[in-house]
Amino acid sequence: MGSEKKIEKSRVHVINGPNLNMLGKREPEVYGSLSLDEINQGLEIEALGLGIELAFFQSNHEGMIIDRIHKIFKENSLGLIINPGAFTHTSVALRDALLILFCPIVEVHLSNIHKREPFRHKSLLADIVTGQVIGFGHYGYKMALTAIHQLSKA
Ligand code: DQA
Repeated sequence: MGSEKKIEKSRVHVINGPNLNMLGKREPEVYGSLSLDEINQGLEIEALGLGIELAFFQSNHEGMIIDRIHKIFKENSLGLIINPGAFTHTSVALRDALLILFCPIVEVHLSNIHKREPFRHKSLLADIVTGQVIGFGHYGYKMALTAIHQLSKA
Protein backbone atom coordinates (compact mmCIF):
# COMPACT_ATOMS: atom_id res chain seq x y z
CA MET A 1 0.00 0.00 0.00
CA GLY A 2 2.75 2.41 1.10
CA SER A 3 4.88 1.53 -1.91
CA GLU A 4 1.96 2.30 -4.28
CA LYS A 5 1.82 5.88 -3.02
CA LYS A 6 5.59 6.14 -3.40
CA ILE A 7 5.35 5.16 -7.08
CA GLU A 8 2.68 7.78 -7.74
CA LYS A 9 4.71 10.43 -5.96
CA SER A 10 7.53 9.99 -8.46
CA ARG A 11 5.23 9.97 -11.48
CA VAL A 12 5.04 12.91 -13.85
CA HIS A 13 2.22 13.06 -16.37
CA VAL A 14 2.83 14.37 -19.88
CA ILE A 15 -0.22 15.48 -21.87
CA ASN A 16 -0.13 16.60 -25.47
CA GLY A 17 -3.19 18.09 -27.12
CA PRO A 18 -4.60 18.26 -30.64
CA ASN A 19 -2.43 17.79 -33.71
CA LEU A 20 0.68 17.08 -31.65
CA ASN A 21 0.44 13.43 -32.76
CA MET A 22 1.41 14.83 -36.17
CA LEU A 23 4.73 16.28 -35.00
CA GLY A 24 7.54 15.61 -37.46
CA LYS A 25 5.10 15.86 -40.37
CA ARG A 26 3.22 18.96 -39.26
CA GLU A 27 4.86 22.32 -40.14
CA PRO A 28 8.38 21.05 -39.31
CA GLU A 29 9.77 24.56 -39.82
CA VAL A 30 7.66 25.65 -36.82
CA TYR A 31 7.57 22.53 -34.65
CA GLY A 32 10.74 20.64 -35.63
CA SER A 33 11.38 17.31 -37.30
CA LEU A 34 10.97 14.93 -34.35
CA SER A 35 7.83 12.87 -33.97
CA LEU A 36 5.98 12.85 -30.66
CA ASP A 37 7.25 9.31 -30.01
CA GLU A 38 10.83 10.48 -30.53
CA ILE A 39 10.31 13.43 -28.19
CA ASN A 40 8.79 11.12 -25.59
CA GLN A 41 11.68 8.67 -25.89
CA GLY A 42 14.19 11.47 -25.24
CA LEU A 43 12.16 12.59 -22.24
CA GLU A 44 12.03 9.03 -20.94
CA ILE A 45 15.85 8.89 -20.89
CA GLU A 46 15.96 12.17 -18.98
CA ALA A 47 13.36 10.89 -16.52
CA LEU A 48 15.25 7.65 -15.89
CA GLY A 49 18.27 9.66 -14.77
CA LEU A 50 16.09 11.61 -12.35
CA GLY A 51 14.31 8.55 -10.95
CA ILE A 52 11.00 9.77 -12.34
CA GLU A 53 8.35 7.62 -13.98
CA LEU A 54 6.50 9.22 -16.91
CA ALA A 55 2.91 8.64 -18.00
CA PHE A 56 2.20 9.87 -21.53
CA PHE A 57 -1.15 10.84 -23.01
CA GLN A 58 -2.08 12.51 -26.28
CA SER A 59 -5.54 13.31 -27.53
CA ASN A 60 -7.17 15.44 -30.18
CA HIS A 61 -10.32 15.64 -28.06
CA GLU A 62 -10.87 18.22 -25.35
CA GLY A 63 -13.08 15.96 -23.22
CA MET A 64 -10.56 13.12 -23.27
CA ILE A 65 -7.87 15.47 -21.99
CA ILE A 66 -10.18 16.69 -19.23
CA ASP A 67 -11.00 13.09 -18.25
CA ARG A 68 -7.27 12.40 -18.04
CA ILE A 69 -6.75 15.42 -15.78
CA HIS A 70 -9.52 14.13 -13.48
CA LYS A 71 -7.66 10.82 -13.31
CA ILE A 72 -4.45 12.64 -12.37
CA PHE A 73 -6.36 14.42 -9.59
CA LYS A 74 -6.98 11.06 -7.93
CA GLU A 75 -3.20 10.40 -7.84
CA ASN A 76 -0.51 11.85 -5.68
CA SER A 77 1.64 12.70 -8.69
CA LEU A 78 4.79 14.79 -8.83
CA GLY A 79 3.64 17.06 -11.61
CA LEU A 80 2.05 17.59 -14.98
CA ILE A 81 3.70 18.72 -18.19
CA ILE A 82 1.09 19.85 -20.70
CA ASN A 83 1.24 21.14 -24.23
CA PRO A 84 -2.43 21.80 -24.88
CA GLY A 85 -1.89 22.78 -28.53
CA ALA A 86 -4.64 25.05 -29.82
CA PHE A 87 -6.77 24.42 -26.69
CA THR A 88 -4.32 26.78 -24.95
CA HIS A 89 -6.03 29.68 -26.64
CA THR A 90 -9.64 28.52 -26.50
CA SER A 91 -10.49 26.16 -23.67
CA VAL A 92 -12.09 27.48 -20.49
CA ALA A 93 -12.98 23.84 -19.74
CA LEU A 94 -9.31 22.88 -19.78
CA ARG A 95 -8.46 25.81 -17.52
CA ASP A 96 -11.19 24.74 -15.07
CA ALA A 97 -9.92 21.15 -15.07
CA LEU A 98 -6.32 22.21 -14.35
CA LEU A 99 -7.56 24.33 -11.44
CA ILE A 100 -8.62 21.10 -9.73
CA LEU A 101 -5.02 19.81 -9.51
CA PHE A 102 -2.65 20.42 -6.60
CA CYS A 103 0.59 19.27 -8.26
CA PRO A 104 2.92 21.63 -10.20
CA ILE A 105 1.81 22.18 -13.80
CA VAL A 106 4.21 23.25 -16.54
CA GLU A 107 2.72 24.55 -19.80
CA VAL A 108 5.00 23.80 -22.74
CA HIS A 109 4.94 25.19 -26.27
CA LEU A 110 7.44 24.11 -28.88
CA SER A 111 7.10 27.40 -30.73
CA ASN A 112 7.30 30.89 -29.27
CA ILE A 113 3.59 31.67 -29.33
CA HIS A 114 4.31 35.36 -28.72
CA LYS A 115 6.22 35.63 -32.01
CA ARG A 116 3.27 34.20 -33.95
CA GLU A 117 -0.26 35.21 -34.93
CA PRO A 118 -1.97 37.48 -32.36
CA PHE A 119 -4.59 34.82 -31.50
CA ARG A 120 -1.77 32.60 -30.18
CA HIS A 121 -0.42 35.27 -27.83
CA LYS A 122 -3.11 34.63 -25.25
CA SER A 123 -2.94 31.49 -23.11
CA LEU A 124 -6.04 30.88 -21.02
CA LEU A 125 -3.82 28.84 -18.71
CA ALA A 126 -0.91 31.23 -18.20
CA ASP A 127 -2.07 32.62 -14.86
CA ILE A 128 -3.02 29.28 -13.31
CA VAL A 129 -0.05 27.07 -14.21
CA THR A 130 3.12 26.92 -12.13
CA GLY A 131 5.20 28.07 -15.09
CA GLN A 132 5.58 28.07 -18.85
CA VAL A 133 8.38 26.91 -21.15
CA ILE A 134 7.90 28.45 -24.57
CA GLY A 135 9.89 28.50 -27.78
CA PHE A 136 12.65 25.95 -27.12
CA GLY A 137 11.27 23.18 -29.33
CA HIS A 138 11.38 19.67 -27.88
CA TYR A 139 13.94 20.75 -25.26
CA GLY A 140 11.04 22.51 -23.57
CA TYR A 141 9.67 19.19 -22.31
CA LYS A 142 13.05 18.36 -20.72
CA MET A 143 13.23 21.81 -19.16
CA ALA A 144 9.75 21.31 -17.74
CA LEU A 145 10.74 17.94 -16.29
CA THR A 146 13.86 19.43 -14.69
CA ALA A 147 11.74 22.20 -13.18
CA ILE A 148 9.27 19.71 -11.67
CA HIS A 149 12.16 17.63 -10.33
CA GLN A 150 13.76 20.68 -8.72
CA LEU A 151 10.43 21.75 -7.19
CA SER A 152 9.98 18.30 -5.72
CA LYS A 153 13.30 18.65 -3.87
CA ALA A 154 12.66 22.18 -2.61
C1 DQA B 1 1.71 24.86 -29.78
C2 DQA B 1 1.28 26.30 -30.12
C3 DQA B 1 -0.20 26.38 -30.39
O1 DQA B 1 -0.58 27.70 -30.75
C4 DQA B 1 -0.60 25.46 -31.54
O2 DQA B 1 -1.98 25.48 -31.74
C5 DQA B 1 -0.10 24.08 -31.35
C6 DQA B 1 1.26 23.88 -30.84
C7 DQA B 1 3.24 24.74 -29.63
O3 DQA B 1 3.68 23.73 -29.09
O4 DQA B 1 3.98 25.61 -30.08
O5 DQA B 1 -0.76 23.11 -31.68
O6 DQA B 1 1.13 24.51 -28.53
